[in-house]
Amino acid sequence: MQTVREIKALREALRGGQGSVALVPTMGALHPGHMALVDEAKRRADRVVASIFVNPLQFGPSEDLGRYPRQEEADAARLADHGCDLLWLPGVEDIYPEGFATTVSVAGVSECWEGEARPGHFDGVATVVAKLLIAAMPDFALFGEKDFQQLAVIRRLAADLAVPAEIVGVPTVRDADGLALSSRNAYLSTEERARALALPKALEQARSDIRSGRPVATSLNDAREALAAAGFSKIDYFALVDAASLEPLDAPRGAMRLIAAATIGTTRLIDNGPV
Ligand code: PAJ
Repeated sequence: MQTVREIKALREALRGGQGSVALVPTMGALHPGHMALVDEAKRRADRVVASIFVNPLQFGPSEDLGRYPRQEEADAARLADHGCDLLWLPGVEDIYPEGFATTVSVAGVSECWEGEARPGHFDGVATVVAKLLIAAMPDFALFGEKDFQQLAVIRRLAADLAVPAEIVGVPTVRDADGLALSSRNAYLSTEERARALALPKALEQARSDIRSGRPVATSLNDAREALAAAGFSKIDYFALVDAASLEPLDAPRGAMRLIAAATIGTTRLIDNGPV
């Protein structure tokens, strides 16, 4: 596996090879959820590029940018193990050179849920993802359903800007007990980790309630109560939404998704599931 830092070096490395290219953007601290994206990228394309960049633009002033887990060597070993061809490790100066003044902002689908709870977050995500896509010009770009709204924002961005890459969504990878893998799970104490299981359980329960005809509002309320009872201190949202627009639904209709964000201790977790 080759490693590059500057965009110029990335472009040179890509120009040298042949066949289709898949890009897997990450912020590192890689776990089997990220590796599922790499594996799917390998199945789709001749060459796989993974980027690791902890993007300052998508963190709020009171968020965890400073303590976000960094483990470059272990990440590189994992990627090489899964057959990644190129590791791209840009520096902040490569992505945001002096005088950088452009923001990519996706209206509508960015504004609700995570967008409301984390103002500016999706502008940061959209700006960096646009930059990564333009730099690598891949045939495929892979993103996890774990961040369901992020995937919807990126699909919108790619369609609006006619990005020539196919945006591929990959199902969420979970621990055996159901907790969605996340770099932020590292912040959980053993006790919090056990309580956090209430989140996937509440999604599963709400799914089965809604499918069996229980009113949506009641099902969602029960889910919020279950989270509170398990010790989640702040529930930002637990909602049934349209899978493409992310607009809230008060009754089952078309392609839907259950989405949730809640805090346990000091750790904010997000998860989602089908209905
Ligand atoms: P990061 O949180 O590192 O996640 C990188 C990619 O891995 C995202 O597409 C995310 O949805 C996916 N992912 C994370 N956990 C997953 C899991 N348990 N199962 C499947 N996929 C999972 O998301 C970001 O970084 C950033 O916002 C980024 C897109 C890189 C832009 O900075």
